[in-house]
Amino acid sequence: MGEAASDRSAMTVPRFVAAKAEGRRLVMLTAYDALWSGLFDQAGVDALLVGDSLSMVVQGHDTTLPVTLDEMIYHARMVVRGNRHALVVVDMPFMTFQVSPEQAIANAGRILKETGASAVKLEGGEYQAETILALSRADIPVMAHVGMKPQSVRMLGGMSKIQRDEDRLRTDAKSAEEAGAFAVVLELIPRDIAEAITAELSIPTIGIGAGPGCDGQVLVNQDMLGLGNGFNPKFLKRYADLRGEVLEAVSRYAEDVRAGDYPGEEHSHA
Ligand code: KIV
Repeated sequence: MGEAASDRSAMTVPRFVAAKAEGRRLVMLTAYDALWSGLFDQAGVDALLVGDSLSMVVQGHDTTLPVTLDEMIYHARMVVRGNRHALVVVDMPFMTFQVSPEQAIANAGRILKETGASAVKLEGGEYQAETILALSRADIPVMAHVGMKPQSVRMLGGMSKIQRDEDRLRTDAKSAEEAGAFAVVLELIPRDIAEAITAELSIPTIGIGAGPGCDGQVLVNQDMLGLGNGFNPKFLKRYADLRGEVLEAVSRYAEDVRAGDYPGEEHSHA
């Protein structure tokens, strides 16, 4: 286990931001329900992201586009229930903030009011600056997300293309900071650009596929725990093989039941 769960104080947005100046690297992991948020919190992560990746890794869709606001709220409530210390950040799903700043405030407001989460995340930088500013002025903390934006899958033609346009990336990250974002996710960008952006910003950068120079890292939990089915990008490090363990355990259970070996005497009531 990481940091002892009992003597930790709760992570807040100001503490999250202060970590950068204090030189503390931030650990973020996705979570979609109370069981796993409780475990990750106990292991000492700083932040839990209720990512719209749940559209793919929980709901089985091919992209992040189908998940709805109500579904995100449903999962975020479970994550908040299981968590005690980590900062809970909830993704704003596709087309719940792009229409107008007013739409974004109404939907982000629902997320904070109905889930108890501390912040929202939205994909975009310069083109979402007006919305980030409006949310910040409404006291809704925003984590921005630049680089490869999975909600742009139809424009990009896929979700694994490394984003190399340095001017665009720097402008997006800087615009997000200037508009009031408290942190920015950098996804799938070259390490040198991520390092330069991290040096330029006073808010934390959280990398995924952006190298070691960011202020923190985020991964989809199913990927780092080895629960995924064949997803193996260069940036991913697997810390466990839970898929293998689950397959093995369930196969042994099935064998025992079929052979009449489970339940045994020790599992039976007199
Ligand atoms: O939805 C998600 O899980 C994300 C992370 C990959 C950053 O946005």
